Amino acid sequence: MKRLLVFGVILTVAFVFSLQGPARAMKIPKEILMNACEGKTKNPIYAPVLMPHQKHMKLGCNTCHHKWTDKKNPPKKCTSSGCHDILEAKGSQMMATHSAYNAFHNRTSPHSCIGCHMKRKREHLATGPIACAKCHVKNR
Ligand code: HEC
Ligand code: HEC
Ligand code: HEC
Repeated sequence: MKRLLVFGVILTVAFVFSLQGPARAMKIPKEILMNACEGKTKNPIYAPVLMPHQKHMKLGCNTCHHKWTDKKNPPKKCTSSGCHDILEAKGSQMMATHSAYNAFHNRTSPHSCIGCHMKRKREHLATGPIACAKCHVKNR
């Protein structure tokens, strides 16, 4: 009887781990050099952005990966086709949902880098940069 119980416990543990298998296999990057727009924009302020991913983990994955439902696979890139896929948007297109510029700089969206940093600054919470050159660091 006792042996059966032990065996049962082992089976349950193995089952729980098998469920977590794909999630455990997914590598969560600590830092990401974001350079999708490199060579595509003529804006002199632009430089690739180092995103300290690890420092954002407490905010909840879906705050940023807001279309991510298939948790067996890593979330799509922000600039994937069908998402924020208009690079180097100009004029009125800059603030379109599909524009990459909008995804990272929208001042009111809680998903955008600047949107969240500004909101948290107003609320006197720990936050990140808002000034262009603090994210777009030249010759890193
Ligand atoms: C919190 C960080 C952050 C701040 C602050 C910031 N940016 Fe960005 N910006 C990004 C990220 C992330 C990208 C995407 C980088 C990539 O993948 O190439 C980006 C991309 C860009 C691009 C390229 C967009 C495109 O579609 O080609 C331009 C231009 C740009 N930023 C200008 C600015 C300017 C001007 C400011 C200041 C008003 C600014 N950024 C402030 C994070 C930031
Ligand atoms: C503050 C925003 C933010 C939060 C919170 C966040 N991420 Fe991310 N994550 C990003 C950005 C930005 C990228 C880079 C996307 C790109 O390159 O277009 C990324 C990339 C990734 C990648 C790499 C995808 C690839 O294509 O290689 C994985 C995996 C990932 N995140 C998992 C997670 C998980 C799991 C969580 C929650 C525990 C999480 N992220 C929380 C913003 C965030
Ligand atoms: C939902 C809110 C939120 C979003 C979205 C977000 N951030 Fe942040 N960011 C934070 C918070 C909170 C901190 C402060 C973390 C800390 O000090 O531990 C931070 C800090 C930072 C820092 C400074 C880290 C340091 O070492 O001081 C950088 C750089 C940064 N974020 C870049 C980005 C970029 C680039 C994006 C978009 C791709 C982004 N963040 C999106 C909330 C956010």
